[in-house]
Amino acid sequence: MSESITKQSVIANYLPTVVAPIAERIDAVFAPSNIALCKYWGKRDVELNLPINSSLSISLAHLGSHTAISVSDEDQVWLNDQRVAADNKFACKVIAFIDLFRGANGLPVRVDTQNNIPTAAGLASSASGFAALMLAIDSFYGLKLEPQLLSAFARMGSGSASRSLYTGFVEWQMGVREDGMDSVALPLDSHWDALRIGLVKVSVAEKAVDSRSGMNRTVETAHLYQSWPLQAAADLERLHRAIADKNFTKLGETAEQNALSMHATMIAAWPPLLYWQPDSVAAMQRIWQARAEGVEVYFTMDAGPNLKLLFTADNEAAVKQYFPDMDVIAPFG
Ligand code: PMV
Repeated sequence: MSESITKQSVIANYLPTVVAPIAERIDAVFAPSNIALCKYWGKRDVELNLPINSSLSISLAHLGSHTAISVSDEDQVWLNDQRVAADNKFACKVIAFIDLFRGANGLPVRVDTQNNIPTAAGLASSASGFAALMLAIDSFYGLKLEPQLLSAFARMGSGSASRSLYTGFVEWQMGVREDGMDSVALPLDSHWDALRIGLVKVSVAEKAVDSRSGMNRTVETAHLYQSWPLQAAADLERLHRAIADKNFTKLGETAEQNALSMHATMIAAWPPLLYWQPDSVAAMQRIWQARAEGVEVYFTMDAGPNLKLLFTADNEAAVKQYFPDMDVIAPFG
């Protein structure tokens, strides 16, 4: 992989060098959060966020980020109605992303983001955040980009953001091009009305190692990581079949094994990465107990201690007996 390809150089192939706002302010645009059933874990290019494997997610319907941009006398980033300090990591990432599009002499802006993901659920918001920011940039500067470009550019903010441009099931195809322009997400033409996702909170504290550093450390130091691309490719196939056949058992088993395989590669990194807390393990054991007692529920987990449960509507009451405090989402309506 060439060292010389930068985000700016890729974007410059598709956009004029100078873009200017077409309005003082645009209305907030929305992008949903998503949860991967087959995870993105490991980059083949860290600058462009190009993945080593394709991934497949499900969007969280109305839960996600609303983002507006307006002209301002200085750059400002607001999150849930609070101004974020200019040197804060989140604010720096947002402004650096806008810089990719407005150029060095671009006008200052104010970015307002509202996340409606229940804060108590401990869900990451970088996917919906960068997807909504990309849509807001598109609208504020009148770029009118095709969906595939929006996905490719959102991916440069956060890999999983490439999948947050769509609702329902979404596949992010890893692509093979050096500039990554074929590494984009596409929606699957499938609905699964009975599917439910349960958010089980273990901790909402900020994690010590973010997913970007975690996956880089895993790729660099975990010998076990070598098996991951094969596992992910096989799981992707299984998930496609499970979705086409509406085979919930296959979907749940595949998603759970995929998440545990990803965590196994992290545990095998050095220094080791264990995002689980004692309560995460207790929740896993409760899920396995529920299954042993005939309640079909599976889980997936990202780079954090919280669990996302997978079950179908007919089992919601039964699953609630084991997890009375979970938030339930119907991803298809
Ligand atoms: O997009 P990032 O850099 O936040 O990484 C996301 C990584 C996982 O959440 C663990 C997996 C995934 O596919 O979303």
